[in-house]
Amino acid sequence: MEIAPGAFHLPGYLSLDAQRAIVEQCRALVDGAVPAYVPVVRGGGKMHVRMLCLGRHWNGKTYEYEPTRTDFDNLPAPPLPGNLKALAGEIAASAGMTLDADLCILNYYEADGRMGLHQDKDEGEQSIAAGIPVVSISIGDTARFLFGGLKRKEPVEAFALESGDAFVFGGPARLRYHGVSRILPGTSPPELGISGRFNLTFRQYDVHDV
Ligand code: SIN
Ligand code: MN
Repeated sequence: MEIAPGAFHLPGYLSLDAQRAIVEQCRALVDGAVPAYVPVVRGGGKMHVRMLCLGRHWNGKTYEYEPTRTDFDNLPAPPLPGNLKALAGEIAASAGMTLDADLCILNYYEADGRMGLHQDKDEGEQSIAAGIPVVSISIGDTARFLFGGLKRKEPVEAFALESGDAFVFGGPARLRYHGVSRILPGTSPPELGISGRFNLTFRQYDVHDV
């Protein structure tokens, strides 16, 4: 479903079995040797998610990507698992776009989790200029997702991202403002056995010839 030029909501993309497997993988990652943490951003505020970057680390102080977490514990960003990279590529293709993901930001939202309106604009200049998409998958509790325009003040549409949904924004939509105003606690499919929400956003930092 194309909700704006270059922006596609793919409800129910992932089966329950696929979601379950990703939940297990996400759990192991966020509690692994390089654990998820709550970033403090450059204004000094704490984010309202637990974050773990895979493939490349997003530094909340500099808003730049780097190999190790110099804003937190200096640990290296764990590699992006091959199965997740492949999944992101498939999702992009099903929206008619190409993504060779080299990084993923994995966020865990508790019941009071949220994320303010922002643009994803810290990937490589060429990647953004080429409109290489961001691919997002959501698992667990439903989120009230906000999707606006290219300027912060433009009107914002709100819709639900439910467990198993994918969302892709690239091309002319690549720099649209977006955020999560709230999580709807208790809406996760009971079969998953989780509370809260995992969101994975895949991006391609480096541009290369195919
Ligand atoms: C993000 O924009 O980085 C996360 C969006 C979401 O959680 O759906
Ligand atoms: Mn974002």
